[in-house]
Amino acid sequence: MDNPETKRTSPFNHFYDQDDFYYGLDLRPEFTGYFEKKDLAGKNALDLGCGEGRYAIWLARRGCRVTAVDISAVGIAKLARFAAENGLDIQPVHADVGKFDFPEAAFDIITATTIFDHLNDQTSKQVALSVINALKPGCILYADVFTINDPGYCAITGNPEASDVSDTAAFMARYFKENELKRLFSPLIPLVYRETVEPDLSHGKPHKHGWACLVAKKQ
Ligand SMILES: C[S@@+](CC[C@H](N)C(=O)[O-])C[C@H]1O[C@@H](n2cnc3c(N)ncnc32)[C@H](O)[C@@H]1O
Repeated sequence: MDNPETKRTSPFNHFYDQDDFYYGLDLRPEFTGYFEKKDLAGKNALDLGCGEGRYAIWLARRGCRVTAVDISAVGIAKLARFAAENGLDIQPVHADVGKFDFPEAAFDIITATTIFDHLNDQTSKQVALSVINALKPGCILYADVFTINDPGYCAITGNPEASDVSDTAAFMARYFKENELKRLFSPLIPLVYRETVEPDLSHGKPHKHGWACLVAKKQ
């Protein structure tokens, strides 16, 4: 966790190095809409690319045991402090998700929120297979990514929509095409799938994001 090389090379450390939650604690409605009325007590959850842990915190507050993985040493240390201070059952893990040792059929819930768009195509496919194997049968993945309708992608391709670009757009590996997130997890059964463009006031200057959000179930 104190690896100075990672501290230097993970751009999100800079954003997480403050008392407040950089992204706030609000979650996507596709996630809360599916989970908020479910009994989650005692469920095993994995939050991939957790950042400061807003999804891990929400799940732990509802009784889940959460493993939360991120490459940002600052985000992981911040989440570890928050969990200890608030008595939450969260195990923060400082790791690259591409090298994480996924246990087989171990999790009832896996969340992966704007992490697959930080991985190259090959690593995405490898991690997606690991995620599918790590879910127990009948259990649920929630994933979201930014799409080619995001102004950050438009900025790369020279579209005038570029004025609405997020301050973290420079750290994206890629933007997902229409239905690409659903295809990445095609062995799972999609329960909710939505692509949308929405304003984001949670961090930095007001901007927009193109989202793809998926709730999917393992058979
Ligand atoms: C846009 S942030 C989203 C954070 C969090 N999921 C949320 O919704 O608040 C992307 C996160 O992915 C993490 N990340 C990027 N590449 C990673 C990798 N290869 N392994 C683990 N985490 C990674 C970053 O450190 C960052 O915290």
